[in-house]
Amino acid sequence: MIVDTSTFSPGSPQALAIEHLFYFDLAIAALIFLTVAVLVIYVSARFRQRPGAGEPRQDEGNPKLELVWTIIPAVILAVLFVRTAQTMAVANPSAGKRRPNVAVIAHQWWWEYRYPASGVITANELHMPVGEDWLIEVRSADVIHDFWVPDLGAKVDAIPGHPNHTWIDARRTGTFLGTCAEFCGAEHALMGIRVIVQSVPAFDGWVKEQLQVPPPPTGAVAKRGFKLFSDRTCVNCHTIAGTKANGTVGPDLTHLADRETLGAGVLNNTEDNLTRWLENPQKYKPGCNMPILHLTQIEARDIAVYLEGLK
Ligand code: CUA
Repeated sequence: MIVDTSTFSPGSPQALAIEHLFYFDLAIAALIFLTVAVLVIYVSARFRQRPGAGEPRQDEGNPKLELVWTIIPAVILAVLFVRTAQTMAVANPSAGKRRPNVAVIAHQWWWEYRYPASGVITANELHMPVGEDWLIEVRSADVIHDFWVPDLGAKVDAIPGHPNHTWIDARRTGTFLGTCAEFCGAEHALMGIRVIVQSVPAFDGWVKEQLQVPPPPTGAVAKRGFKLFSDRTCVNCHTIAGTKANGTVGPDLTHLADRETLGAGVLNNTEDNLTRWLENPQKYKPGCNMPILHLTQIEARDIAVYLEGLK
């Protein structure tokens, strides 16, 4: 699996527009830097202090010069403004009355994804099909966050009570990494985003899988894990379809085993890591809203086995 971590490999027209703007701004900045650097070097060589020379001639109040150095920066700023506004328009054309393809809901400190057309609800790993221009609605459940996947599009603020919209038209398959781009508390740096862009048939298959209610656990260990999960406080915060767990504070765990990472990217999703996470989530994500449940290692293992069976 290719994981895209470079900011300079745009995977959508929206990200490409931003990259073009970046290079354009960089070129202007480089030109200004070069001009200033050359002038500074020239002036310090040409007008350096020479032995025996007195104070140089003092000039002040040159209207022509002052006009030039006012007008040039004003023109540069106007050009940058127009180019920036054009680029913003590429990522954010009006949505009109169109229903979003997916709603991104930021939480302290994870991401919830709701697909209104299919009813799929998942967390942290956003699946989308290649080659379809998707309308993304960005909301927040608590404080201000910011949804940002550099290779796919613009930063979008997640503001409580004020949904924002953006478009992402992913043009190649793969995994694209993103992060929260607005300081939102202790774990701001640990709310990673993975966008998994799939071929249309693979994406449709994924949706079908997500809609399936996982069968009850079969093995003895998984059964014990299921009982622990149901008897402890887990069910107050998490949802697992087909069980009485229907909390909405934490991520939906119906298909947890399908995800690549745990805790919004802090650990790879393996049985060992999930056991450690259950024993002490605060060790891996200090300040996160998942409490230490005081499980024994065996209890944590039992629950991990159950959860890792939720494909
Ligand atoms: Cu969420 Cu920063």
